[in-house]
Amino acid sequence: MFAKFKSFLKKVLPTPLYIFLLALRNWKDLFPVISFLSDNIPNVSLRQKLRIVKQLYIINFNVESPHTQDEILNFIRTILTFSPEKKGVIVEAGCFKGSSTAKFSLAADIAGRTLVVFDSFEGIPENDEPHDKNIFGGDASFKKGDYCGALEEVKSNVARFGNIGCCRFIKGWFDDTMPDFKEPVIAVYLDVDLASSTRTCLKYLYPLLEKGGVIYSQDGHLPLVLDVFNDDKFWLNEVGFEKPLIHGIGKVKLISATKEV
Ligand SMILES: C[S@@+](CC[C@H](N)C(=O)[O-])C[C@H]1O[C@@H](n2cnc3c(N)ncnc32)[C@H](O)[C@@H]1O
Repeated sequence: MFAKFKSFLKKVLPTPLYIFLLALRNWKDLFPVISFLSDNIPNVSLRQKLRIVKQLYIINFNVESPHTQDEILNFIRTILTFSPEKKGVIVEAGCFKGSSTAKFSLAADIAGRTLVVFDSFEGIPENDEPHDKNIFGGDASFKKGDYCGALEEVKSNVARFGNIGCCRFIKGWFDDTMPDFKEPVIAVYLDVDLASSTRTCLKYLYPLLEKGGVIYSQDGHLPLVLDVFNDDKFWLNEVGFEKPLIHGIGKVKLISATKEV
């Protein structure tokens, strides 16, 4: 019912008014937006930050976006804050229709970095993970084919609203594509829903992180994913590193770890 009303408003209202109403409805996002605009990020002008924020809302208007602007701005701020001397690409695992990709590509472009995007482009894989409730009491269920965005659709969204020139897309199941990926990485953003997918990403991507690099997961509200992050043996035996300090674990949806060694 609400979705129908929303698409009706989208059709009848002038775009700037509709975007303004969207911003008001998601008023909790206004605080991180204001904080991002007032942050002093070296070599990034207020004009560049304003353009990013404007695009964030335009992308939400046009592309299905299962994330908050706060989550996205946290990663954008991280991308923009690394000193240019630090080498490494940005990696996104799990892009759905390309909304998050388009947003991150704006920051990758300013930072002069490549954004490597891993996805099946067929949605969530076949799985038997017994997801039920997330840590906040909401429902969690991930069936084969959920969150499907075809590669051409994603590319078209990123080309329209982001900067496709700095993006590289790697299509396939993470288990098949990630073992061959060997480039230095400075920042990773995981939004992959499944514990099995998270395991694969941590196993192959964490060792590639440069010292001082950061890995985020937007799935910190899912108990089965948290089990992976909390598993000391998995970190030591499969990732090859001691479990790092994981910020926000068990408390917030967007968790992160900085690689200190
Ligand atoms: C929630 S969606 C990502 C949403 C996106 N980050 C956004 O905010 O717009 C999860 C994505 O993970 C991908 N995915 C999950 N497990 C995967 C796997 N094992 N291999 C490849 N892709 C996978 C799905 O195809 C889907 O696009």
